[in-house]
Amino acid sequence: MTKKMSTHQAEEDRRNDEILIYLNGKIVPKAEAKVSVYDSGFMLGDGVWEGLRLYNGTWAFMDEHLDRLFEAAKAIDLDIGLDREGVENALLETQTANGMTTDAHARLMVTRGVKTRPFQHPSLSQQGPTMTIIMEHSRPNLPRPIKLATVPHIRGLPMSQDPKLNSHSKLNCIIACIAAEKAGADEALMLDVNGFVNTTNACNFFIVRKGEVWTSTGDYCMNGITRQKVIDLCRENGIPVYERNYSLVDTYGADEAFLTGTFGAQTPVGEIDGRQIGSGQMGPMTERIRSLYKNLIEKECA
Ligand SMILES: Cc1ncc(COP(=O)(O)O)c(C=O)c1O
Repeated sequence: MTKKMSTHQAEEDRRNDEILIYLNGKIVPKAEAKVSVYDSGFMLGDGVWEGLRLYNGTWAFMDEHLDRLFEAAKAIDLDIGLDREGVENALLETQTANGMTTDAHARLMVTRGVKTRPFQHPSLSQQGPTMTIIMEHSRPNLPRPIKLATVPHIRGLPMSQDPKLNSHSKLNCIIACIAAEKAGADEALMLDVNGFVNTTNACNFFIVRKGEVWTSTGDYCMNGITRQKVIDLCRENGIPVYERNYSLVDTYGADEAFLTGTFGAQTPVGEIDGRQIGSGQMGPMTERIRSLYKNLIEKECA
């Protein structure tokens, strides 16, 4: 369990060298997809984004992704410049240009656009938003369960930088991930302000104890769409599921742990802070939830 890995690891696919990118209404080759050094996103991390996945010709949970994108844009007072239909069309246009039908991942990003001068004030962003879509062929490929390390960086209170914002600036998460890597893990397990286990730097986090599925209260973490789908699936299928506070003691002693996110769906966790979790391999509950989620995707993306 030593080789370097990330939760967003995919099979090598040379087709991604030649993909087409959506950039402000145009479809351009990857090599030409460039934004200004004056862009608010580059300069300040001033923007919001969504990660979406294509299965069988359908972008899974499009409504939920659009809801979250527009909610985040409203929160940071950013006019995306397109309505929901416009954003959806941009996604479909990029998909068609790339001839993608399934197993694709899109990162849809909108920033406050190009600034007139290199300073923070949002009024300096006067040219309208910059919107880009990077769409890649993508099949997640994890050779082993993920290793996590708890780090000193916590999930902040909503009145500083609300962890529910899918903001371009992810420095808190990146520093956490670096700390985890230096501790020999793949990804960081982050606590909340009260010391309860909350989330990882890039995914939501669940444990399984005695047939029950536990995840954090939902405060201090991304309101993950996959997280909510897993909670709903548990409820619909008679699996006890709790959004609650729990500690590292509960976590080390769990029978199973797994992560959720659009990219990897459900990713098993084998080790946390040098403690093996359960058997160290994917457990039966994680396997069951993965299968329920796969069925849901098949229904949603028929
Ligand atoms: C910090 C963080 N947690 C969790 C998630 C997973 O959310 P979702 O299931 O909507 O992909 C993301 C994805 O954007 C994220 O950035």
